Amino acid sequence: MSAVPVPLALLAEVTHRCPLRCPYCSNPTSLVKRSAELSTATWLDLFRQAAGLGILHVHLSGGEPAARSDLPELVAGVAETGLYSNLITSGVGLRESVFARCVEAGLDHVQLSIQAADAGTADRIGGYRGGFATKLEVAGWVTSYGLPLTVNAVVHRQNLDRLPEIIALARQLGARRLEVAHTQYHGWALLNRDALMPTPEQVERARAIVEEAGGRMVIDYVPPDHFATWPKACMGGWGRYGMTVTPEGVVLPCQAAESIPGLEFESVTDRSLSEIWRNGLAFATYRGTDWMPEPCRSCERREIDWGGCRCQAMAYLGNPGATDPACSRSPHHSQFRSRALGFAEAGVDSFTYRG
Ligand code: SF4
Ligand code: FES
Repeated sequence: MSAVPVPLALLAEVTHRCPLRCPYCSNPTSLVKRSAELSTATWLDLFRQAAGLGILHVHLSGGEPAARSDLPELVAGVAETGLYSNLITSGVGLRESVFARCVEAGLDHVQLSIQAADAGTADRIGGYRGGFATKLEVAGWVTSYGLPLTVNAVVHRQNLDRLPEIIALARQLGARRLEVAHTQYHGWALLNRDALMPTPEQVERARAIVEEAGGRMVIDYVPPDHFATWPKACMGGWGRYGMTVTPEGVVLPCQAAESIPGLEFESVTDRSLSEIWRNGLAFATYRGTDWMPEPCRSCERREIDWGGCRCQAMAYLGNPGATDPACSRSPHHSQFRSRALGFAEAGVDSFTYRG
């Protein structure tokens, strides 16, 4: 039995409410209603528990966290525990007065999403007219209040050819870091695979463009699983690096873990965060290497990628305990890749939006 590591990060999904309707959204198809969201006091208690557990970073995410009127109180709650706070926002729905209160409350960092480098494409992808203009304004607030800005661009077949413009825009906005992340096909995104999946040629070009860019702005490139040789260590390994808490308080080893049937997840309203992390069955099931089948069990990379992504194994193979099909050693790898090629070549342009 492996030792239980100290977690480093808490992804606090404070709400599922969001004005945007991005087709690549990895949140579940069925969202938590506002009436079921945790109260301010419960979140604040949770942040104190997180600090006690050794967590260093709290990512305030959603949905759109600005949809909660208590966002500055939540930021203050994180700051009071001494944890580093990162606001993950689309910018839409965030008012400058609220943002200023967040800064005053001790906000450390902002991660702002963009869908493309021009208003027409960005607003079409985000399913929200005027969203792009709002984001530019919010980026201006972040830098003028002196906070570090990361721009996050989820990339896919319909915006990847404009990657140089996305990089230029992030520079222009004063971002210190740009995250270029290929779509992860979980939750709602699974419904849009045929409209989002990139071609291998696009992926190759994107890699070269990122390698050539850089300079004063750091670029983190998250490659797509479908055309990779090795899988990613999803979440830094199941139950190793961090956890997600849903708007209603369910503690998950990763954002998409509820897609795995048979795992029982616990809520912070019933048990302490520490108990859930250390002894929760859902965390223990795929933590470490004991659960691994072959070829992972005897693989020299088993403590590098921890067998890849359990949710991807579930989505593609119906078996969360299988080797991630993104791995070239998986017996299902070539089928996984050819299905992706099929989606990429389907030529579907229209998105399926929420609502
Ligand atoms: Fe990782 Fe398993 Fe593939 Fe080895 S066989 S590289 S441990 S997913
Ligand atoms: Fe759940 Fe990868 S998204 S383990």
